[in-house]
Amino acid sequence: MAKMWAGRTSGETSKIADDFNSSIRFDCKMYEQDIKGSMAHALMLSKQNIITKEDAEVLVEALGQILDDLNSGALEIDMEAEDIHMFVEQVLTNRIGDVGKKLHTARSRNDQVALDLRMYLKDECDEIVELTKTLIEALCAQAQDNKATIMPGYTHLQRAQPVTFAHHMMAYAMMLLRDIDRIKDCKKRMNVSPIGCCALAGTTYDTDRYFEAKELGFDSIALNSLDGVSDRDFCVEMLSAIAVLMMHLSRFSEELILWSSWEFKFVQLSDSYTTGSSIMPQKKNPDMAELVRGKTGRVYGDLMATLTMLKGIPLAYNKDMQEDKESIFDACETVKMCLKVFAPMIETMTVLADNMKKAASEGFINATDLADYLVKKGLPFRSAYKISGSLVAYCIENKTILEDLPLEKYKEYSELFDTDVYGDIDLNTCVNKRISVGGTSVESVEMQIKYVKENI
Ligand code: ARG
Repeated sequence: MAKMWAGRTSGETSKIADDFNSSIRFDCKMYEQDIKGSMAHALMLSKQNIITKEDAEVLVEALGQILDDLNSGALEIDMEAEDIHMFVEQVLTNRIGDVGKKLHTARSRNDQVALDLRMYLKDECDEIVELTKTLIEALCAQAQDNKATIMPGYTHLQRAQPVTFAHHMMAYAMMLLRDIDRIKDCKKRMNVSPIGCCALAGTTYDTDRYFEAKELGFDSIALNSLDGVSDRDFCVEMLSAIAVLMMHLSRFSEELILWSSWEFKFVQLSDSYTTGSSIMPQKKNPDMAELVRGKTGRVYGDLMATLTMLKGIPLAYNKDMQEDKESIFDACETVKMCLKVFAPMIETMTVLADNMKKAASEGFINATDLADYLVKKGLPFRSAYKISGSLVAYCIENKTILEDLPLEKYKEYSELFDTDVYGDIDLNTCVNKRISVGGTSVESVEMQIKYVKENI
């Protein structure tokens, strides 16, 4: 079929070229933004006396009807169309004739696509923020219930010092809070309207770009038309923010996978968020967490694809840029799916406090506190560290733990030891004496929960 842009060329492209060129199968997502953008454009054109008020009314009415018909299903998107912009304009012209042909005055698909994408992604930002909040709430609830649940804290995946499960959950809440911040921040720069930049150089018509931007809920307008149509920083920024968010979910997933293993058995994921094996009857697999971890790679790929697509193209619009949408849409869909499954998975997770406590009791994770005890009694930390280390070595050799050593044994290592040592190395004491801001004591973690709830 001859194209609406037939003129310089016959517009008679081959079928295979049409299929290759077409973006409708993914940009059809933006039909609502495209139509709303066109309505604002018609209003601006009539306000500036570029078209008549009557024409604008006909355009707005017909565009509204197209939107309703698409929403209701009365009108189907033609997958043979070149893109969503051409499709809407074609339907409009079919329905109202020549007036429809006036809509594209003082506009180009180059500023139109940039507009639609910004509008679409602004809403996606809001949705991702909301879903992240729901996950943070699930983390706060688990933290609330587990303020006194002691588990081993790890460094190098070696048992290090006791922490509470609440403390661990709130660490992820803090990361997610920063993720929200990043997404909101990138939305700020996304909230700049490119419409009116036209093909690349602006227009000879007396347009009002500020009016059109305001109609569409933008904070400001792009002040250089070449930049306005060439800029995809907002995609890169959003992809980066989503990639970091996915990285956090992936690290969390890795822990959930470890904790669900028989080797750890710190948590049990609900049956609703695990799967069985087709051959091994005993299996309960943390597939959701594994998929989140796996999908992180594809989101990194979306970011890399977009950065690479942009790095070599000259100003202004190049068709390469059509590739922006599949990457950013994929990243948005992926992160939303991950968040949707993650929040209820955390909410319904059973915390196996006894197993955590047992693991915490076996790893000499109170050795630092034993050294601190001697410091309190006047020994320099380095010397205290050495004595504590020797006592741990003694315990390992004799298959016992610090809590079970008799006082006489302690005294062989230092005369400073007394009966109060047992209180100091009790895991509850170890946790609750860590009252430093950000620390693992109940009091400190309560402060963290309060902070997160206030700043969510
Ligand atoms: N489908 C195109 C895209 O997604 C719209 C812009 C087309 N502009 C052009 N000059 N061919 O980028």
